[in-house]
Amino acid sequence: MKGKTLVISGGTRGIGQAIVYEFAKAGVNVAFTYNSNEELAIAQVKDLEKNYGIKAKAYPLNILEPETYKDLFLEIDKDFDRVDFFISNAIISGRPVVGGYTKFMKLKPRGINNIFTATVNAFVVGAQEAAKRMEKVGGGSIISLSSTGNLVYIENYAGHGTAKAAVETMVRYAAAELGAMGIRVNAVSGGPIETDALRAFTNYEEVRDITAKLSPLGRMGQPQDLAGACLFLCSDKASWITGHTMLIDGGTTFK
Ligand SMILES: NC(=O)c1ccc[n+]([C@@H]2O[C@H](COP(=O)([O-])OP(=O)(O)OC[C@H]3O[C@@H](n4cnc5c(N)ncnc54)[C@H](OP(=O)(O)O)[C@@H]3O)[C@@H](O)[C@H]2O)c1
Repeated sequence: MKGKTLVISGGTRGIGQAIVYEFAKAGVNVAFTYNSNEELAIAQVKDLEKNYGIKAKAYPLNILEPETYKDLFLEIDKDFDRVDFFISNAIISGRPVVGGYTKFMKLKPRGINNIFTATVNAFVVGAQEAAKRMEKVGGGSIISLSSTGNLVYIENYAGHGTAKAAVETMVRYAAAELGAMGIRVNAVSGGPIETDALRAFTNYEEVRDITAKLSPLGRMGQPQDLAGACLFLCSDKASWITGHTMLIDGGTTFK
């Protein structure tokens, strides 16, 4: 993995941040994006370069405008000589999800569309740009984060759950067509993981307690629980895994 480059959206918090550090520990150079946390992103770049001896750089990105991925990758081209891995991780919250993060009878097309744009369209444009670069180095690995909220009911999660179901299908289509370029495409789907996104749930404490109770492991998921799976899927150890969703739910979905 050493000397290769990861491009990841939303590397400043939660699962994205854990993935950034997991790859940095393996000697992978990291180009990550931020949205609101510029200061944190700059401090993180310094920390990564100082403590892990890798090249790191942070770039602003708004996944509600997926086409801007094209400019982002042109910037990344100036700073990194190759792209080997792309992880579509960022997620929107707050005002843009109004009408999307709610009960079925209160869903509104605008909120649903925003979530779809930020989840599916952003994955598509980001993965297309990444694939063009991966082709030049003989292949690579692409991952979309997903959530078990497309398999089991989570209150207010209809907008996100349906977008995650869609992105998992898009992953399979991408895998079918990009394999010829040596590019593998998979999804990593998590059960409830302790991050800001989950803490923003109106029923966060209930979800936390139910998850710990449902899991045979007796605890909530942590960002690191998904980061290891991403590193594995990008490594040669996963060389014949493509078009799949890896489920990491602490055993909660079965119960
Ligand atoms: N938490 C869970 O329970 C869970 C479970 C399964 C899957 N997932 C998935 O894992 C991924 C990460 O979730 P998380 O819980 O780690 O989220 P999080 O802690 O809320 O972090 C969100 C990240 O996305 C960035 N972001 C926010 N709005 C953005 C925008 N408009 N454009 C571009 N970037 C934006 C943030 O950047 P700034 O910090 O700069 O604002 C931050 O880095 C998501 O795809 C999520 O669906 C989460």
